[in-house]
Amino acid sequence: MAEQQKKAYYVTTPIYYVNDAPHIGHAYTTVAGDMLTRWHRQRGEDVWFLTGTDEHGQKVMRAAEAGGVSPQEWTDRLVETEWKPVLQTIDAANDDFIRTTDERHSERVREFWQTLYDAGEVFEGAYEGPYCVHCEEFKLPGELVDGEDGAKLCPIHNRPVEMLSEKNYFFRLSAYADKLLAFYEANPTFVQPESARNEVLAFVRQGLQDLSITRSTFDWGIPVPWDDSHVLYVWIDALLNYATAAGYGTDPERFAHLWPADVHLVGKDILRFHAVIWPAMLMAAGLEPPRQVFANGWLLVGGEKMSKTKLTGIPPRQIIDVFGSDAFRYYFLRAIPFGQDGSFSWEDMAARYKADLADQLGNLASRLTSMVGRYRDGALPAPVDEPAVREAAEHAVTTAEAAIDVIDLQGAIIAAMDLVRVVNNYVSETAPWQVAKDETRAADLDRILYATAEALRVAAVLLNPVMPKACAILWGALGAEVTLGPIADQRVQEAATWGRLPAGATVTKTEPMFPRIEDE
Ligand code: MSP
Repeated sequence: MAEQQKKAYYVTTPIYYVNDAPHIGHAYTTVAGDMLTRWHRQRGEDVWFLTGTDEHGQKVMRAAEAGGVSPQEWTDRLVETEWKPVLQTIDAANDDFIRTTDERHSERVREFWQTLYDAGEVFEGAYEGPYCVHCEEFKLPGELVDGEDGAKLCPIHNRPVEMLSEKNYFFRLSAYADKLLAFYEANPTFVQPESARNEVLAFVRQGLQDLSITRSTFDWGIPVPWDDSHVLYVWIDALLNYATAAGYGTDPERFAHLWPADVHLVGKDILRFHAVIWPAMLMAAGLEPPRQVFANGWLLVGGEKMSKTKLTGIPPRQIIDVFGSDAFRYYFLRAIPFGQDGSFSWEDMAARYKADLADQLGNLASRLTSMVGRYRDGALPAPVDEPAVREAAEHAVTTAEAAIDVIDLQGAIIAAMDLVRVVNNYVSETAPWQVAKDETRAADLDRILYATAEALRVAAVLLNPVMPKACAILWGALGAEVTLGPIADQRVQEAATWGRLPAGATVTKTEPMFPRIEDE
């Protein structure tokens, strides 16, 4: 029977403004998407993970001007020297990278908006209001905060807004308020977490204003197809990346396979664009909205959103050069409940590295490999049940799987690390180094060693999505690469099936998974 092709699991990150280099706030969302997609790949699903860059608009244009080059040269340079390399630095396995200056994007964007224009969804009008270039968004006067000298400031950036008065084209967003509310009602998990959903509901319940979608005071953007004296507003160009990268307008088969996106991961500052404007645009075009928009919190510095404009941005390299990419990924996803704000500190990072990674996971692996080396010449004893450890492993898998289903990345990591902790205690309590002294207890020693190896196998499968480098080392040390195949091919669903590591697997002491960090 021909296998029917199942829809892919499609995850996106926001596409990042290339006005500057990436900081850890940007890397955070990408790492979250990477963990999520690696997990789904390990479920055996067909997965597509998209990221990219948002290159048009005033913010990028002004950065290019300040840098003394054209916007195209500026973005070309930053994408190649900063935004693509950072993906390697953080070890992200994205399937595609879209730039809004790609023709595959800009041409389809023009077609999309021409279709909406032809369908009467767009009209000509005038608008005047306060605009924040850093958000690339008109603000409502009531949202602004007071600055010095009576200046009105953007509440997110704390920088003065500019009065913008324009005659341009509008999208009939106001017509979609009721449709959106009905959609949110029918899809209660469309916006997550709950706090984000409530914010969106409250916002849309007030009614929506029509959206100004073109600009005529500058030209760094996609030309409006029906009026080339305007360019498209950067956000209504950028949001379409999720569709254009998936084959919208060029490859219907691929688009059907990918669309709707399963989850758009976004920072909470860009929630309304994704949960209000974007589904309305799709509804207007007769396309299905994404299945979920999940808003993550901010990385804070001194209680404020980390940002380059405020000079608080830390480049990922700075942390990764010290701790490595695995620990970087682990730290942010483990320390901060996904969806809430969190702060970074070197002390906290170093403390977790030592306590969780070196003293728990690294230590358990090194205890096992040395003991199998010392007592069994590096050959794993035959499979044997150890109910307490097996049940802890089963519990870890079930808990972690349920957590991933609701994008509780922290919960999945905690489940795996709880297993490691339980098994470290089990080793301490059963004291195999004592058992080894008593020849009549050879079977007990075999059981302890085997159970510990199996628990580590399960932990490796569960932690591989967040720490692929360390888990590959562990996988090799367990002799699993040779006997069970690559770790990335291990199915999470089957991870807890006891007895997968075969008798005689070669267990070796390898390089440390988490080397000691020299105090600075
Ligand atoms: N270009 C738009 C997104 C368009 S998506 C169609 C944009 N770009 S951005 O570069 O300013 O921000 C991209 C993402 O990085 C956003 O999700 C934003 O929340 C996130 N972060 C930027 N600073 C952050 C922190 N300090 N902490 C966590 N995430 C932060 O918005």
